[in-house]
Amino acid sequence: MAKIPEHKIEQIKDYNDIVEVISSYIQLKKKGQNYWAKCPFHDEKTASFSVSPKKQIFHCFGCGVGGNVINFVMDYEKITFIEAVKELAERVNVKIDEFSVSEKDTSDTTRLYTLNEFAANLYHNSLFSSKGKIPLEYLKERGLLKQTIEKFKVGYAPDEWNFFNNKYDKKKFGLDVIKASGLLAESKEKIYDRFRNRIIFPIYNLKDKPIAFGGRTLKKNEKIGKYINTPETPIYHKSYVLYGLNITKDIIRKSKEVLIVEGYMDFLQLFQNGFTNCVACSGTAFTTHHGKIILRYAETAILIYDGDDAGQKATMRAGYILTSQKVNCKILVLNKEDDPDSFLQEHGAEKFQKKIDKSISFLSFLKKHYKFDKLNATQKSKIVTDIIDEIRQFSDQIYREMIIKDIAEEFNLEYESLLKQLRKKTFKSHDNSPQIHIREKNFKNQSEAAQYQLIQLLLINNSKTRKAGLKYITPDIFSHEFLSEVVAKVLGIVNNNDDILPEQIPEKIHEEKIRRFVVRLVMELDSIIEPEKTLVACLKQIEKQMIQDQYDDLSKQIQNIKNDDKANLELIKQQVKLMKDKKELEKIYTLDILDE
Ligand code: CTP
Ligand code: MN
Repeated sequence: MAKIPEHKIEQIKDYNDIVEVISSYIQLKKKGQNYWAKCPFHDEKTASFSVSPKKQIFHCFGCGVGGNVINFVMDYEKITFIEAVKELAERVNVKIDEFSVSEKDTSDTTRLYTLNEFAANLYHNSLFSSKGKIPLEYLKERGLLKQTIEKFKVGYAPDEWNFFNNKYDKKKFGLDVIKASGLLAESKEKIYDRFRNRIIFPIYNLKDKPIAFGGRTLKKNEKIGKYINTPETPIYHKSYVLYGLNITKDIIRKSKEVLIVEGYMDFLQLFQNGFTNCVACSGTAFTTHHGKIILRYAETAILIYDGDDAGQKATMRAGYILTSQKVNCKILVLNKEDDPDSFLQEHGAEKFQKKIDKSISFLSFLKKHYKFDKLNATQKSKIVTDIIDEIRQFSDQIYREMIIKDIAEEFNLEYESLLKQLRKKTFKSHDNSPQIHIREKNFKNQSEAAQYQLIQLLLINNSKTRKAGLKYITPDIFSHEFLSEVVAKVLGIVNNNDDILPEQIPEKIHEEKIRRFVVRLVMELDSIIEPEKTLVACLKQIEKQMIQDQYDDLSKQIQNIKNDDKANLELIKQQVKLMKDKKELEKIYTLDILDE
């Protein structure tokens, strides 16, 4: 494991306020002490993702992700701990270069990156080998320059079942990593190359690491898919990735304007014609995540999709998403038979620039798309209602109303009546208070709920409950298997460390599932009103349940041996004793145990 000194990590965490950092990725809204958002890690309609400025942690009550600022960056960007620390250090100008960061971080993620890097090079080199004659000729015919091919490491996967399969170091990567990479496909008893006889477009993350591949067939009019892509893997989540952005991000940031196309070939053609402020969403619908990424770099986005019906429909979807993210969205409409690639090749860069200059606003695109001026009143009103339904989903009221104003102008309609329409059905708006879903809390019995609370009580620093907890709580009184694992971890950490703050505890836990769970316990801590009474009640409840379980067990035995009176009597005696023990609990568990 690479080592960055503990105090450095602390310093980096101190300087990077979690609310500020997370806000640079997603929009947070303050409610009470915490900030809330719709969770970026799973799909949801209500906001259950929360960030605590006081505790400097985040947690999603819906899907369970959580941790500190470093964990967030790791999870969001799918990068390793070291990479996240480095990135956060850079953000606040803290130098960590002088510390040795080991190259041999052998985590599976790192090996996945390495394997992809290997594959990208292999495919790229094969394009220029004897096997690559036909594909290279094909790319030339399509107007791709050698320098473009090299810059974006375009490659070729030969027409063989085991070209890649026979080349990588099987020992070094291990079967798990290889299967996870998506580079191979699996049948009943064999694994073989996923990409065969295809042009390969490696897809990079923002750290210039190849995370996936798109492959275009060389055959014309085949039944097989024109493109196949790497499936979702631990490092590739297609709705978060934009093709080419690793190379073009700085250019986009400078020009504040981005050109968005659909295809790899479109992108490359634009790029080599000098339109370098571009990205492609290649192979997937434009998502909110894409929109958020765009917003980090650009103020204006120009959508340049295929001129056909499918392209125009996709333009509409992407347009709404970009607009909802407050990106100024414009549209360049091509003729039905064109895509950006074919237009550039036919008409050249100058004409294309003219087209860009004449790109229209998203609203004016909608108007044109629907042929609004030619519609009758009923049709018009239906269209406008549909558009307003979309706008109603946007998260910020002032912004919604500004867009409505633009619609009034563009469509030549009365602002007030559009506003009325907007405010209809406002129950759908996103300003509702956050709902907390605590699915895992459907415990089997009161004892399990008590076990859950006991762990929380151990988290409170310099408290009587932590002190007494250390004396009375042991993992073996926990019947809930996972909670027992969690409490063992927490006990180990708080033992002899009275001062450790609740929010510092998750950081000491390496098992992700346990860590995330403890983050949630920390988040919920404020809801405990009388910790000391709760502790006593919980301990009592757990023991009560143990006694009850034994009692029930005896009852079963009694039922099974109906005919043996002597044995029966013995069992009944034991039950009576248990009843007595149960009563005793009231005397044993009082607030006094906190002072002993
Ligand atoms: N795509 C895909 N799977 C398909 C078709 C398309 O993943 N079956 C993705 C690819 O990323 C492709 C983009 O959608 O680049 C746009 O598709 P299309 O316009 O059909 O392809 P082009 O990029 O124009 O490719 P070409 O010009 O080589 O036909
Ligand atoms: Mn094309």
